Amino acid sequence: MTDPLLTKDGQELLDSILSMRPAVMREDRKKRYLRILSLLMNEQGCNEARKELLLEAVFMVEPKVFEFSYKMRHDPDAREKIWPKYVDVEAYLSTPILVKRWKSFPASKLAKRPDQMKVIAVCASPRKGGNNEVLIDEALHGVADAGAGVEKITLRRMKIGFCIGCMKCKDEGFDLWCARKDDMTDIFPKIVDADAIIIGFPVYWGRECGQLATFMDRLNCFERFKFRVALEPGRRALVIGTWGVPKVDAYDHVIENIILTLNEHQIETVEAISVGGLEGVYYGVDDNKKAIALRFPGEVEKVYQAGRSLVTG
Ligand SMILES: Cc1cc2nc3c(=O)[nH]c(=O)nc-3n(C[C@H](O)[C@H](O)[C@H](O)COP(=O)(O)O)c2cc1C
Repeated sequence: MTDPLLTKDGQELLDSILSMRPAVMREDRKKRYLRILSLLMNEQGCNEARKELLLEAVFMVEPKVFEFSYKMRHDPDAREKIWPKYVDVEAYLSTPILVKRWKSFPASKLAKRPDQMKVIAVCASPRKGGNNEVLIDEALHGVADAGAGVEKITLRRMKIGFCIGCMKCKDEGFDLWCARKDDMTDIFPKIVDADAIIIGFPVYWGRECGQLATFMDRLNCFERFKFRVALEPGRRALVIGTWGVPKVDAYDHVIENIILTLNEHQIETVEAISVGGLEGVYYGVDDNKKAIALRFPGEVEKVYQAGRSLVTG
């Protein structure tokens, strides 16, 4: 296939965007941008692509956070428009946090009444009283108000080692969940007993924080001898991802990874919540080291509703 024809400013933009990507990724990215661009040109019946159309193709290929980084770099007014001007602490703190609920339609039918259900919540943030803790507590209030039982598991207080890939959990007849003895030993049966699980985590360096990655790796043992999936279908999940960038879909791809892993274990994520803009003064906290989320009760209320509908909807 020949490369699509670009206008002069389209070609300049392509060169400039490719220069933003590490060299080792450039060839592959270029192929993908141009492939999508060809499809868009075909759709629009044009034979020369302007920079606006190229940009549309690029944003369809890259994770959403790229759009934010791109605008911050290329639009001289962007910092002021999409992130507060850092003139004073108040400007910093008044940037609204943004909460997006993405529900699954239709969600599977609930087999039990809320008062017969048990929900565990896994808080992966290393920060006591941080945004994730605030949001998880809010979701748990929603669950408890609907009548279900709740338990919060705070990973930062636990001793949980890495999965060491020993694969003992895959041996025929191995009757423990995991060969490692640590706080996960008590958590596995809680997951088995639960009707639903809530997971809340901060994005660190463009991915889930290490505490959640370690926890998710350890769920490896729910895949048994000859790849049999140990958990029966029927468990629900609510996944909450939080980050600083004030773009509500910036890291939806990270949330999707968690949803896909849960799906491998037959745990159905019926709702996910993306929370962007948790920047504050020190990565999510205000000048008193309190979670930024506490300043926006209207947005936080959406998480309460999501908790409620996890066991009712
Ligand atoms: C080490 C570290 C890395 C972070 N990396 C990112 C990042 O890559 N992108 C982003 O938007 N926010 C990032 N953040 C901001 C947090 O995701 C955000 O403030 C989150 O809400 C903190 O949650 P917590 O208050 O529960 O700890 C980072 C924060 C820390 C402490």
